[in-house]
Amino acid sequence: MTSSPFNSDYIRSAIVQQLAAGEFCSGENLGEQFGISRAAISNHIKCLVELGLDIFSVHGKGYKLASAIELLAKDTILQHLEKPDSAQLTVLNVIDSTNQFIKEHHDDMQNGHVCLAEAQTAGRGRHGRRWVSPYGASLYLSMHWSFSSGYQALGGLSLAVGVAIVKALQNIGIHHAQLKWPNDIYLEGKKLAGVLIEVEGQIGAACQCIVGIGLNVNLPKNVTDIEQPYIDIASLLPEMKDRNYLAALIIDSLSSTMTQFEQQGFGPFVDDWRKADVFANKPIKLLLGKNTIEGFGRGIDDNGALLLETAEGLRAFQGGEISVRAN
Ligand code: BTN
Repeated sequence: MTSSPFNSDYIRSAIVQQLAAGEFCSGENLGEQFGISRAAISNHIKCLVELGLDIFSVHGKGYKLASAIELLAKDTILQHLEKPDSAQLTVLNVIDSTNQFIKEHHDDMQNGHVCLAEAQTAGRGRHGRRWVSPYGASLYLSMHWSFSSGYQALGGLSLAVGVAIVKALQNIGIHHAQLKWPNDIYLEGKKLAGVLIEVEGQIGAACQCIVGIGLNVNLPKNVTDIEQPYIDIASLLPEMKDRNYLAALIIDSLSSTMTQFEQQGFGPFVDDWRKADVFANKPIKLLLGKNTIEGFGRGIDDNGALLLETAEGLRAFQGGEISVRAN
């Protein structure tokens, strides 16, 4: 009983579906179902634990998730969407990166096509960092959008996407989410979500945009490798574990933002961004390569550039990363 007609991803996904309700499942029953040994089931469970699932075992009872999870389900997401008939959705189990998936398949996609995954093994963050992506704990979502007018049309896009997320969160009663320039979403001084926009194309031609969003929903307590203070939705709203509903809210908000941005640019989003600015009038440092520029945050200009009041006066910056100053 060692070879099975099912591949590993299929078996692991099916094991998680059985465990999702939070009840015990015996290794023997699982093995019989897939035509593999209990030892093989044990190896699949180890892989799932490495992917971030909190599974424990009790002798004589089997395996159990520390708490039940709601798995992503394409049909449920579609039911929650404003326009399910025109939505294009790919829901995956485990993938290296949803941004990478879009990059490899965008030739066959229309604007607004979304890819979601339960876990990412090589989730990408900004500035070449890794995005920690434990199984079933968060939303890992990427949307494809092709801009026929090319790179020059993209100024402020990442800020507009931040506004789209803040608006989506209002639908579940989170009204105090804030934005750290250019597009981190903050809650109670900690990072709740991040946005990574990747662009492909040639100057003067259409460009392909991949808008990637990572939103912490219910991170396992044993996550250790996130390098900055973070928060998840569950610590604020313990009952809100419905990732399918949340995914639909984000997709609807992002789709309408992308449509409006393509037609009107960043202008319609400036005021909302300014209202949510977490560092408005706060002392901050801007890390620009090897240089550090100190000043007070003075919001953004109409193009989305960061305004910093420095010793030399008010300066606008298109790039860099904000770090907090003690005073
Ligand atoms: C950041 O560093 O703040 C940006 C994080 C973006 C993470 C998301 S998760 C879905 C998508 N796929 C990736 O590989 N990255 C983005």
